[in-house]
Amino acid sequence: MLNTKRWSVDLEKDLSTYYPQIKQAADLLQQNEVVAFPTETVYGLGANAKETEAVMKIYEAKGRPSDNPLIVHIAEVQQLHEFAQIESEKAKALMDAFWPGALTIVLPCKPGTLSKQVTAGLSTVGVRMPDHPIALELIRAAGLPIAAPSANRSGKPSPTQADHVASDLEGRIAGIVDGGSTGIGVESTVVSCVGETPVILRPGGITKEALEEVVGTVSVDPGLTKKDEAPVSPGMKYTHYAPEAKMYIFHGSDEDMQRHIQKYKAEGLKVGVLTTEEKKSLFAADVVYSCGWREKPETVAANLYRVLRQFDETDVDLIISEAFSEEGVGSAIMNRLQKAAGGRTLPSFQ
Ligand code: TXA
Ligand code: MG
Repeated sequence: MLNTKRWSVDLEKDLSTYYPQIKQAADLLQQNEVVAFPTETVYGLGANAKETEAVMKIYEAKGRPSDNPLIVHIAEVQQLHEFAQIESEKAKALMDAFWPGALTIVLPCKPGTLSKQVTAGLSTVGVRMPDHPIALELIRAAGLPIAAPSANRSGKPSPTQADHVASDLEGRIAGIVDGGSTGIGVESTVVSCVGETPVILRPGGITKEALEEVVGTVSVDPGLTKKDEAPVSPGMKYTHYAPEAKMYIFHGSDEDMQRHIQKYKAEGLKVGVLTTEEKKSLFAADVVYSCGWREKPETVAANLYRVLRQFDETDVDLIISEAFSEEGVGSAIMNRLQKAAGGRTLPSFQ
């Protein structure tokens, strides 16, 4: 067991007040230890991307299979030249437009520069410059490219508060920088700029529409849309971001959603409902949680993971979630919900 240090940073105050604390966290990173820190999307679990010893500690703390590559975080574009090739004009345009921000760009990696464990053996690397003062200052102070996946135990919803990180990883990591709640609430958009046309590999904080305004046509990895259908065998492969109770996504009318709730209750099951401010009074279930306003999908993104974690503190046997529009940030919301539900859906009654 490690003694996990915790530093609290109040972003209302001048950040320079906290430079000594951030320096302590940066020193741990330089010593190849693992430190969690806030970004504008979710909390990240950072380690020196150049050292395998450091990167392995991320996989161990998370319990994550090491065939899933990690995103490398930088504070200045200059840092990129050390380990990535940036010949693509479209990649440069995306960096100019969206960095710092919730966009991860996959580029060819310069061999031998980063730990092989970061790229999971691929010849490419995903990079992003987070738009968060603590993250940027920490990376600058460490003077290193920082590999950082979301700071949750593998399979759990990503953390949007330092307490989420602590509840998953206390005793397993060297430190947590607490900067309060993260703003966007879902992870960055991952876009590959290895080929001529950029390809979205994971929908996220920055929408396809916004990317296309900068670089024209952007395609979407066909693997993503396939997962929109209920998989024939909803195996573990699709289950991420998952609460402990089985989750189902319901597409249909509010009346039919209530009929499903009644049906499960009649079987003696405790039913949780994941809904919105507009609809929360329509459902009579054992636990009803709202994650924001349907009409303001960015509020749903901001609260989604916190609410999924809240269900774990209840004794519901299953959770039924309403479905959302896939426009804009809605595509990231539905992608995460579908994974949390392991592809399980409930049909309308005819
Ligand atoms: O918002 C975020 O992106 C957060 C914060 C902490 O920055 N990080 C994050 O990391 O979500 P993680 O490890 O949970 O997700 C990284 C995603 C995975 O889906 C991984 O497969 C993909 O990015 N990825 C990373 N490097 C890649 C590469 N070279 N090629 C393709 N996909 C890559
Ligand atoms: Mg993650």
